[in-house]
Amino acid sequence: MALPFAQLVLPSVVLLIPLYLYIKYRRSKNSLFPADWPILGVLPFIAANRHCFHDTITSILAATNLNFRAYGPPGTNMRFFLTCDPDNVRHIFTKNFANYPKGDEFASVFGLLEGTIFTADGEAWRQQRARIHHVLTRPRLLGSTSRGCRDKVARGLIPLLSRMALAGTPFDIEDMLGRLVFDMTVMLVFGEDPCCLSTSKPPMPVATAMDALMEVAFFRHAVPTLCWKVMRRLRIGPERSVDAAEAVLRSFVAGEIRRRMAAGQQTDGEVAAVDILSHYIDDPDFFDDAGREPTDFLLKTFINFMVALRDPVGAALPWVLYNLATHPRVVSGVREELVPVVSRASSAAGMVVFEPEELKDLVYLRAALFESLRLFPSGPIERKAVIADDVLPSGHKVHAGETVLVPVYSMGRMESVWGGDCREYRPERWLSEDGARLRFVPSYKFLSFNTGPRSCLGKNIAMAQMMSVAAAVAWNFDVEVAEGHAVEQKLSVVLQMKNGLMVKVKKTGECV
Ligand code: HEM
Repeated sequence: MALPFAQLVLPSVVLLIPLYLYIKYRRSKNSLFPADWPILGVLPFIAANRHCFHDTITSILAATNLNFRAYGPPGTNMRFFLTCDPDNVRHIFTKNFANYPKGDEFASVFGLLEGTIFTADGEAWRQQRARIHHVLTRPRLLGSTSRGCRDKVARGLIPLLSRMALAGTPFDIEDMLGRLVFDMTVMLVFGEDPCCLSTSKPPMPVATAMDALMEVAFFRHAVPTLCWKVMRRLRIGPERSVDAAEAVLRSFVAGEIRRRMAAGQQTDGEVAAVDILSHYIDDPDFFDDAGREPTDFLLKTFINFMVALRDPVGAALPWVLYNLATHPRVVSGVREELVPVVSRASSAAGMVVFEPEELKDLVYLRAALFESLRLFPSGPIERKAVIADDVLPSGHKVHAGETVLVPVYSMGRMESVWGGDCREYRPERWLSEDGARLRFVPSYKFLSFNTGPRSCLGKNIAMAQMMSVAAAVAWNFDVEVAEGHAVEQKLSVVLQMKNGLMVKVKKTGECV
């Protein structure tokens, strides 16, 4: 059967033209800089550097004093100004916030999340932020999140790791952590444990759909809007998977909401409020006139909750364990700090599990996590639109209609921002001289949780979850990256590992 033209020829053209131009360009200039290429702008550059994309951008920013411009093909709106200058970041994200919204282009790139807090601007964003801030600071919700996290670690993660230690064979700990975080996310959002960690069923369709959409979003950022919209219509290339992925997410979220509607709100005189859904289910604004069907906005809002909670924590934890596994000195520091807590912590079968509350004042553990997020931020690039012409503190002009990109990944690796040892994993940089306190580091320099009015609303929850997992693994197990396993980054708007993280574990103090 003949393949349709679009499926056969278009992808070849998309691949071959950039390759041709890339070779021509390398021969003529032999430079790293992604200049304005004939016809295709920066696209060949992205294609050629896809295996080390963030590191390449980092090298260019280091060579261009933290700022450069890049263009897409003429006639498109791909006019980018890239900066990782902390003063510019402060100006864009805080001081002149109103001039730098997310913009319509950003919203359309994230399709299914259009209109939710993640993509909205102005009043629509402000109202959602106020409501979500209220929800995420309820003491009962925080209490049940802590208990849920502790129980998952005690009854799920630790027994599984113990089994892997006994088996002594390499396994993918990124997949295991992904299941753990998925369970914790669904528990916090919908109040139900999907038990993905314990059943270990092969690919989780909902998580796979979320990953697919984030990879598609990266692709959409990188090509002209018309190009991805045509591909979407023809259902080719990365756009092929979008409809199916969106359907999986819609159906999952709708199912969870209907299940709760059928069960009724469990109350004991007041709203139970132990999960996020409890705060929306009784509000008629989110249902049709008959009160039976959730509105499209409610479905999108809950897909957004799944993404906002699962993606960044699920991406960050494997990097934390990778950094610990490759820095035994830091593991010793974490264990030393845990010693006084261990005497109070609960222990079963020789394994120690920590309450998030017990860990909140541990500065070295917190520094170890911040340091991992500095080098491997879950969101490697921030994007802003420019409303009116402006001059940035660096002296660069930006023009209405341009896009500002802030490579957060690169910012964490700039000598002028973090010093000569910026590429080293060194938690001590976060601590005071005597190691007793955390140093103040402005959020416009450490951008992993964003800065300014749109900073992350779940930072405390995320840190509590991650400290709990990292402490339990570091105290109870020695983790070693499996021989020959190469850690690579996926090209996605979320900084995940491409081929997982293959490790071997053994119980602390035991020989292999
Ligand atoms: C390691 C974990 C996390 C990291 C690194 C992280 C990072 C971020 C970043 C960079 C943003 C800004 C995104 C943007 O506007 O482009 C953000 C926003 C947000 N985060 Fe997080 N996040 C994490 C976990 C969480 C969790 C667990 C929750 C909820 C419990 C959460 C809730 C939110 C919300 C609601 C926003 C939207 C804020 C707004 O636009 O006003 N995050 N987060």
